[in-house]
Amino acid sequence: MAKRVFIQTYGCQMNVYDSARMAELVEPLGYAPSDTAKGADLVILNTCHIREKAAEKVFSELGAIRRLKEAKEKRGERMILAVAGCVAQAEGAEIMRRAPFVDMVFGPQSYHRLPEMVARATREAGGILETDFPAEAKFDHLLESTAKSEVSALLTIQEGCDKFCTFCVVPYTRGAEFSRPAAQVIAEAERLVAGGAREITLLGQNVNAYHGAAPANGPRTGGEWGLGDLLRALARLPGLDRLRYTTSHPRDVDEALIAAHRDLPELMPFLHLPVQSGSDGVLMAMNRRHTADDYRRTVQKLREARPDLAFSSDFIVGYPGESELDFRATLDLVAEIGFAQAYSFKYSPRPGTPAAIEKQVPEPVKDERLAALQSLLREQQKAFNEAAVGATMPVLLERPGRHAGQLVGRSPWFHPVHVDAEPDRIGAIVPVRIIGVRSNSLTGVVDNLQAAQ
Ligand code: 5AD
Ligand code: SF4
Repeated sequence: MAKRVFIQTYGCQMNVYDSARMAELVEPLGYAPSDTAKGADLVILNTCHIREKAAEKVFSELGAIRRLKEAKEKRGERMILAVAGCVAQAEGAEIMRRAPFVDMVFGPQSYHRLPEMVARATREAGGILETDFPAEAKFDHLLESTAKSEVSALLTIQEGCDKFCTFCVVPYTRGAEFSRPAAQVIAEAERLVAGGAREITLLGQNVNAYHGAAPANGPRTGGEWGLGDLLRALARLPGLDRLRYTTSHPRDVDEALIAAHRDLPELMPFLHLPVQSGSDGVLMAMNRRHTADDYRRTVQKLREARPDLAFSSDFIVGYPGESELDFRATLDLVAEIGFAQAYSFKYSPRPGTPAAIEKQVPEPVKDERLAALQSLLREQQKAFNEAAVGATMPVLLERPGRHAGQLVGRSPWFHPVHVDAEPDRIGAIVPVRIIGVRSNSLTGVVDNLQAAQ
């Protein structure tokens, strides 16, 4: 009987990408994907360490899986249990100590060794810990996937971060910045398109810091490509209709990237550009290396290049030392820019990061500020969604909806859109007239007249 692997993914889209690669890596070992840990022969928790309580959540999840593992052992069977991702990287030794029933712990830079680790875990007792940052590039070891792709596929082009924002664990868990060679990215994009992808989202912790080796016999051979160059090359791939990228840093929005937004209709008019705060003092303390006005200017330039560009962002409230005035500056910036959507968080101290040892803002103050910011952001999101009603826009149909006969897709501006359509339309880009707004999505009807033209 086929063995089963269950992968639980936490956190960002980079983890979603990594989980898909892990599933591919163990497939040749006979592991078919399962959507539950129950009965699985290999269970991988792909963890996230970005905000608070991540480690505790992993330990409690491990407690539950331990019971499944023991039940399996009583039946004379074996479950290999692995903890992967950023909690594994940051707290590997602690996991091995507190949860000795875990068979392997490995960081984001080591998962290409998964087949070898699974083989070792099958043969030997005792835990395996793999949390070095190997010099060899992990991406060289990943399989060339020929599998069917998602309609909207993810492609990691860059990993790690050298920016060291004072609140963030990423430079410690994902390590130094690394960009994949452009030729390798293009080859992976071609495979994804051949497998059915029509949209690709380029991923990286600091995706617009991308500086991959230029392909042989193209522009700047022997040198490097930035994200603007890469987007230009990908936009030319036949069958690839939509491009997105995330997550970017305001400092790394260069002229070539702005020009890409101006020139490439394939590059979708929605950009996640975290600003974190609207106060220069807080931005400086965070080591963001840009001011609020730098952000305003960048947004303005991007809007001049692509007038319908919508923005999303990340915010942290209650960063150590944030005053009422600092927080007001954040509200002012939000009011001025107008975001289509945004994520906002209370600052949470991450062990080992510089801001964790600063004097903290009291919790009730953080709560109050978060509520005020979220209420403003919600209003803006509502206004943005309502403005779409009545418009007809191209929607990429991605997957079945909750009800029979319904599909869910995305507008160019990243709104989820629900329409009535048959499942064989998945993968099509159809004109949809927007007729209603729900809390986080739109409803529409396929404009058959236009679709037929
Ligand atoms: N506390 C709160 N939010 C954080 N983020 C990153 N680290 C922290 C932290 N220590 C947020 C930032 C980042 C997003 C991915 O998570 O806003 O952009
Ligand atoms: Fe973290 Fe992003 Fe700052 Fe890098 S740029 S340290 S990933 S918040």
